[in-house]
Amino acid sequence: MAIEAVLNVDLDGPRISRHLYGHFAEHLGRCVYGGFYVGEDSDIPHERGLRLDVVDALRELSIPNLRWPGGCFADEYHWRDGIGPKEQRPVMVNTHWGGVEENNHFGTHEFMALCEMLGAEPYIAGNVGSGTVREMSEWVEYLTRAGDSPMARLRQANGRDEPWPVRFWGLGNEAWGCGGNMTAEHYAQEARRYGTYCRDYGDNKLYKIAAGANSADYAWTETLMKQLGPLGCRHIESTAYHALSVHYYTLTGPTWEQKGSATAFDTDEYYTTMVSAARIDEILSGHAAVMDCYDPGRSVGLVLDEWGTWFDVEPGTNPGFLYQQNTLRDALVAGTHFDVFHRHADRLVMANIAQTVNVLQAMILTDPDSQAMVLTPTYHVFRMNRGHQDATSLRVDFRTAPPSRRVGDATLTTVSMSASRKDGRLLISLSNLDADTAADVEIELRGGAVETVEALILTSGALQDHNTPQAPSAVTPRSYDGVTVAGGRLRAHLPAHSFVTVSGAL
Ligand code: AHR
Repeated sequence: MAIEAVLNVDLDGPRISRHLYGHFAEHLGRCVYGGFYVGEDSDIPHERGLRLDVVDALRELSIPNLRWPGGCFADEYHWRDGIGPKEQRPVMVNTHWGGVEENNHFGTHEFMALCEMLGAEPYIAGNVGSGTVREMSEWVEYLTRAGDSPMARLRQANGRDEPWPVRFWGLGNEAWGCGGNMTAEHYAQEARRYGTYCRDYGDNKLYKIAAGANSADYAWTETLMKQLGPLGCRHIESTAYHALSVHYYTLTGPTWEQKGSATAFDTDEYYTTMVSAARIDEILSGHAAVMDCYDPGRSVGLVLDEWGTWFDVEPGTNPGFLYQQNTLRDALVAGTHFDVFHRHADRLVMANIAQTVNVLQAMILTDPDSQAMVLTPTYHVFRMNRGHQDATSLRVDFRTAPPSRRVGDATLTTVSMSASRKDGRLLISLSNLDADTAADVEIELRGGAVETVEALILTSGALQDHNTPQAPSAVTPRSYDGVTVAGGRLRAHLPAHSFVTVSGAL
């Protein structure tokens, strides 16, 4: 029996901001150094030290924004250490991530060059934890002020005449933890203070993002919202910050010390991962509900600026480098996150997967020995879902109950989907999370028709399958003929553990 669903093609939901497909690059392990940046003396093809195959692969994803320099690193980073001649830049210790030396060769100019090459907007996380208001204020001036001013002159002296457009600005990171161990009340005051001195220069208008809650800490969100206006005020005018962030990671193991292997897991562990991933819906709903009380007009944005799977590091690698492989399981985590993001597009304005290269749920892994570059299954989900960026979301409702299974105390719905419309095309994403059983879905299309469809499938023999330099296409999308359309009904056969996208002209 097919699972029945209804899709109203002509009833517009909220626009899916392309920024929900955002990225994150921290000075952590081999994300920046050895990932994006190989240095100007490298034999690997590069431009100004930026690895070209990595940039080209990421351009295929149309990545809309890149968050940098952290993470926890952001609250230890002093931007003036990362400008000027490289040989004169001071060395520091990256205390959070492996205690290694950071030579500051990748700094502001290198990051902005990377963003320009990627075609991505920069999202800079400023230092609240160990920095000063002046330091942050001057960084904004350095980046964005044209004409004559001390920081504009300094930038010009370092080879860049024109200011850069920078919209997204983070006021610290995880202020409840590595970003200063503050209480919500204390941080809310700090965010107002720092936000006040991050100025708009010329046409550059900052969109300031306050460091938000850890997972389900709704009280943190409430404290930050209270700072912006009274309960139920209809319109919030704030120059201190325009959005709040939240971080939510998909964890599997019973304790932080035992997060589980990225590749060696059994079916029970797989389902535990998927339950943890599905919780993102509850987390976003909870924060959005609190925000609705203070901002019913939804002018304050919610920014999930860290999400993704977090497993034990690969055996033999530096525990501080957070290097993990990426399997079909990670792809299904990503696919179901995007379905949830699309449903929350009226409040969720940005999301950033952690992290883009060689760290946590990466798009790209680079081999430190052979220097080979590998695209992960997660990369392919971003690629397959690219058409949802800046599209109009469309509601898909199940008419018959979707399949589900008990996992411990939780119930996991094992078919997930979302849809959007853009430029006269329909795009539907479907995931079957069942490890062993296929699912058939029949979707009645109302208010619009597609004559023909094209489908892609991402699946593999085993959930544990992943890509390596020796087998770079073990998990890769293939065109798929298991989707048909006739008489206004779209029928999709979803093999066990598969991610499918379907598109067609309306
Ligand atoms: O992404 C890795 C780390 O996770 C980030 O530095 C920090 O913000 C979070 O705890």
